Amino acid sequence: MMDVQRIRKDFPMLKAHPELVYFDNGATTLKPQCVIDAVNDFYTAHTSNVHRGDYAIASLNDRLYDGARGSFAKLLNCSSQEIIFTHNATASLNQIAWGLGHDFLKPGDVILTTEAEHASNLLPWFRMKEEYGVEVRYVPLDNQANLDLSEFAKALTPEVRAVAVAMVTNVLGSIQPIKEISRMAHAQGALVIVDGAQAVPHMKVDVKDLDIDFLAFSAHKMCGPSGVGILYGKKQLLDAMSPVFMGGDMNARFQKECTYELKKGPSKFEAGTPNIEGVIASAKACEYLMEIGLDEIHAYEKELRAYFLEQMQKLGNIEIYNPDNLYGPIDFNAKGVFSQDAAGYLASRNIAVRSGNHCAKILHEVIGTDSTIRASLYFYNTKEEVDRCVSACADISLENAIGIFF
Ligand code: ALA
Repeated sequence: MMDVQRIRKDFPMLKAHPELVYFDNGATTLKPQCVIDAVNDFYTAHTSNVHRGDYAIASLNDRLYDGARGSFAKLLNCSSQEIIFTHNATASLNQIAWGLGHDFLKPGDVILTTEAEHASNLLPWFRMKEEYGVEVRYVPLDNQANLDLSEFAKALTPEVRAVAVAMVTNVLGSIQPIKEISRMAHAQGALVIVDGAQAVPHMKVDVKDLDIDFLAFSAHKMCGPSGVGILYGKKQLLDAMSPVFMGGDMNARFQKECTYELKKGPSKFEAGTPNIEGVIASAKACEYLMEIGLDEIHAYEKELRAYFLEQMQKLGNIEIYNPDNLYGPIDFNAKGVFSQDAAGYLASRNIAVRSGNHCAKILHEVIGTDSTIRASLYFYNTKEEVDRCVSACADISLENAIGIFF
């Protein structure tokens, strides 16, 4: 059983802002002291580059940086040689798209995706359409962005070479059936690419069990620092894939005739000086979450979300867009009030949420509106915070929302 009050003490932001209800965890999460300490220690006690120095501090950082792969490998149940560090989930997804475009895709190949995806899992594929002549197709979803496997089976025609979907969608929190998607896609030779940005921080994601080919996510949404993305790929696929970025540390040798040989393993994808302190601190975040337990986090958030939904559904002035989903953010509008004005009113009551289209700019095709309020929870949130948010939502009106600007 999670002791949330004890856990809250790990987060200095909660101490610094006792009045704040932070429900913008889908955008980024707060950081525990152990993560802050890891960044701080790097700058105050062991600054150096990695993979380039022959002195003790540099060797320490080599061990910490490369050791961080082991923490993520344990989290995902894969080999540390299958963990690449990038700059964010977007960079990971771009590497996958450009790598597949360069090495695997040919004109007429189809990428199957959904209208609920974040920009980072659509725009790279749009570029592959421009650059390599692939076709982007969408699997029909229900009105809360859940993928139906019979529709998926119909969409999975022989030209589909890759399926690119979010495991948990970033606006409506729809959990897609990745295991079944993988089984069906693999049966006809298509690769499975999963945007795990809103999944990995909140639940166990076992890449072997789910048989995922590529998984992308970021550290800052799982208590880690900004500027670190993680790319998991099956080893044989990574071995066959070209990197997007070329430069220092990723090459074995090069000659003036423009010939070169790249390193093997994760280094091939990590050109230039990486975010060393970010990666080291991300491993701390990863270990912190594993210590609490991803199953415990998932169960707690599910229960808190159910309570939140029940209270919100009692409010006559609120329209909820994902009432049947059991997990993830609650996405809503106050009737007759523009979402950004309503979010401004909530801010005046110390409630932090996100409003707008949440980077999922074609989701309006599914839910019928392009601007909503997203309240996204994490395991350090409490029922008391939910009550405060619900009470503030009950008071949203056109008059209140506009009133804060005058
Ligand atoms: N991708 C983040 C979100 O959904 C920023 O808010």
